[in-house]
Amino acid sequence: MEKLSEFKDYIPENIYERLGKKIEYLMPPQADSVRKGLFNGKNLIVSAPTASGKTLIAEMAILNSFLSGKKSIYLAPLRALISEKYDDFTKDNSDIKAILSIGDYNEKDYNIDKYDVVFASTEKFDSIIRNSLQKIGNIGCIIYDEVHLLSDIGRGPTLEFLITLNKLLFPNAQIIGLSATIGNSDELADWLKADLVKSDFRPVILSKKKYFEGELINGSVEKLNNGYDDPLSNITAWLFKNNKQALVFSQNKRNVVSNAKTISSLIGSKLLEDDKKKLLSVSKEILGVLDRPTTQCEILSDLVKNGVAFHHAGLVNRQRKIIEDNFKKGLIKFIVATPTLAMGVNLPANTVIINSIRRYGDYGMELLPAIEIEQMMGRAGRPRYDKEGNAIIVARNESELEIIDQKYFSGEVEPITSKFNSEIAIRKYILNLFCLGIYDKEDRISDFFDETFMYFSGIEVYDKIEDAVSFLEDNDFISNNKNKIEVTRMGKLVNSLYIDPLTGSLFIKFIERIKKKESIDEIDLLHVLFCSEEFRHIRTNQKEFQKYE
Ligand SMILES: Nc1ncnc2c1ncn2[C@@H]1O[C@H](COP(=O)(O)OP(=O)(O)OP(=O)(O)O)[C@@H](O)[C@H]1O
Ligand SMILES: [Mg+2]
Repeated sequence: MEKLSEFKDYIPENIYERLGKKIEYLMPPQADSVRKGLFNGKNLIVSAPTASGKTLIAEMAILNSFLSGKKSIYLAPLRALISEKYDDFTKDNSDIKAILSIGDYNEKDYNIDKYDVVFASTEKFDSIIRNSLQKIGNIGCIIYDEVHLLSDIGRGPTLEFLITLNKLLFPNAQIIGLSATIGNSDELADWLKADLVKSDFRPVILSKKKYFEGELINGSVEKLNNGYDDPLSNITAWLFKNNKQALVFSQNKRNVVSNAKTISSLIGSKLLEDDKKKLLSVSKEILGVLDRPTTQCEILSDLVKNGVAFHHAGLVNRQRKIIEDNFKKGLIKFIVATPTLAMGVNLPANTVIINSIRRYGDYGMELLPAIEIEQMMGRAGRPRYDKEGNAIIVARNESELEIIDQKYFSGEVEPITSKFNSEIAIRKYILNLFCLGIYDKEDRISDFFDETFMYFSGIEVYDKIEDAVSFLEDNDFISNNKNKIEVTRMGKLVNSLYIDPLTGSLFIKFIERIKKKESIDEIDLLHVLFCSEEFRHIRTNQKEFQKYE
């Protein structure tokens, strides 16, 4: 750590004063970023451990851009994370107009010209560009938090498309990419013509432990005798006894709810009377969020009475916030979450429990990537709340014990690789590029792809581009008059629905067919939905399946 005063000459006075109100020292990645030209508009990729203060680097860039009369865009993947950064920023900088754009349609999101800083999800900013490009104005800097998600099979293509598009649309904007520690951060920096800030500093020590058959193993062995065979019950009973709050990660919505129920039945009767009273009112608040509470609201509200909550992407924003706030107050003792809380957030979780190292993937049960486990563990021991943190990974058998040691505790995280090379992504984004009106000639489209991380990594997709353009033309999504491409009404509609054009053409053919029928069968509708790529991955449970069998 280095004294802030050492950097007085590097930092504009206005910003120096703002920083002085809340910090005394700069953490190593922050100091390095300042030295490498953060305030001179240099592009930076910061690859540093969890809790090493990467957000402040973003904040300094935003303030610098604001002082020169320009707008800033902060982009991140998860609602909980973006809201937290927005709340923190507006609390410290109430004179700067910021907007939080994460939810469903909101008129305000598209009046972007009225704000100095936009805190948005990648998907939302993509939508803002599609709908209000002319209002975006003079952008001083764009921050990509958790930029290693380029490698994520689900989110990667949208993020890569957006970064590439932003490079073309806003060539003068400073780029700040904040990333977990990855092996090939230099490649990412080269792609974005950025300086690399690399660090292995973590301000709070994180102690990593394995749990197996009643024992916590971390060099030494500690026996947890709480009378439960089930690992989650045994660990949470022990934490509760020691007055520790924890974040439990499970891999899907169904598991988070059932695990939260398990913990709730364990600790509910042991809560202090005073806490119980306060939790009852939090529980009522949760139930009152929607005019007509759903079953999910009722379950959540019941669990909260016992000091436990679940957290997943299906929560109403307001309920999500109530849970996070009351965990911060110490009232809610355990949050069981899907990976929606795995990145970036600062919560007082002294301990993180990773209940399973596997999840369902396209090929059955798959091991979680090391980078995801690292991010989840990193939610424990945050500087604002704790002096030390603990991460406990549950092993179900001897072989998992070994995997945890080799892959998660001593192995390297996977390098990031582009996931753009898919026919769907290419088809979808070419249609979007035509809709944006940036290109009106087929041969120019390859200019765009030459700017991607995929191309930078040596992958050429000229054949796929050609196929995609032919597909769009054959299905009347675009028309090509004398080598000038125009998007048809149907093309615009498919693009605005964010679906794969192939799905669009499937739906159109289906509608043509059923036009002649007198009534539509539910089973016909389900059939066409499940034929599409978007729905192919949705799993039906036994009960749903039996209904139609
Ligand atoms: N210079 C500083 N002095 C004191 N506290 C700081 C400083 N910089 C950041 N912090 C605090 O450290 C905590 C962690 O910071 P931050 O959320 O930026 O971590 P991060 O590097 O983004 O981690 P992650 O990879 O998990 O997102 C925050 O609570 C923040 O307020
Ligand atoms: Mg962060």
